[in-house]
Amino acid sequence: MFNSLGQFFDGGDVLDLYAGTGALGIEALSRGCERAVFVERDGRATAAIRENLRRAGFVERAEVVRADVERALDRMLTDGRVFNLIFADPPYRIATEVGDVLSRLGALLAPGGRVVIESGEAPAGGIRGKKGVTRRYGGTFVTILERSEITMIVAVCPGSFDPVTVGHLDIIRRASKIFDHVVVAVGSNLRKQPRLSAPERARLIEKITAGFENVSVEVMEGLLVDFARDQGAKVVVKGLRAVSDFESEFEQAQLNRKMYPELETVFIMASAEHSFLSSSVVREIASLGGDVRGLVPEGILETVREIYSRPDGNI
Ligand code: PNS
Repeated sequence: MFNSLGQFFDGGDVLDLYAGTGALGIEALSRGCERAVFVERDGRATAAIRENLRRAGFVERAEVVRADVERALDRMLTDGRVFNLIFADPPYRIATEVGDVLSRLGALLAPGGRVVIESGEAPAGGIRGKKGVTRRYGGTFVTILERSEITMIVAVCPGSFDPVTVGHLDIIRRASKIFDHVVVAVGSNLRKQPRLSAPERARLIEKITAGFENVSVEVMEGLLVDFARDQGAKVVVKGLRAVSDFESEFEQAQLNRKMYPELETVFIMASAEHSFLSSSVVREIASLGGDVRGLVPEGILETVREIYSRPDGNI
């Protein structure tokens, strides 16, 4: 691993997160990095890092921070620090916790720098977008990411999708061309009584978006702002069909921004041919025996016809 990173040790600063004994940062110092910052929460481990630095003669070139990684990152971002090389050897699953940390590392990385993530398991899509190069060294997987691969813009596309229409699909497709990753969030509008459960609505969307590499579908429970935070998303993307949509969308966007000021709501104008289309007209037409072909994606037409034509006294 160190051999493949050779050029990055030519001066520059290294950040060793979840540093443990500090082995990675100390090796980087010995290979030519100028300065190193070690972040480790455990008191005994930070004492060990200090001792190892003393023995290696690198005390002057190192800073040991005893703190949670997330808190330490926030402080370094505020201080405007940059690093040429960032090591992260998290003691837990890459797919979950490190995703949130990773999204902050881009801002700490100098142009041309690299983030190196060590893990006991293959990333298997855990690093969203599956970018970077992963190599296996015995039981350890090492993923090397460039700055452009980390500063990914994740957008959440929320809705009730009861059912998903060709208009929704058009917005999801167009959003997937703008943003690095789009998470379709199947939520529940408390003012509406959905015909299908959220997991069933999500399954229909998964079926029609299976061909989009950078789109995933999740059930959203609770607040959109909390969901967006969990997903590392800084953007909410919504379709806007007509002025009549604006008032409620404006209200939601303002409230969401109040709760999560960094979250931007972005609107994509619906295509003219979808300006009349909504899930509620699909439900009404289907329940009254009309044909919904052309209104819902072809791949789920039969399912929608079958489920939504059953009268339940609600549209
Ligand atoms: O397709 P819809 O019915 O317009 O979708 C509405 C949805 C699900 C996006 C909205 O109700 C929502 O965001 N629900 C999550 C709960 C929440 O955050 N409510 C506060 C919004 S201001």
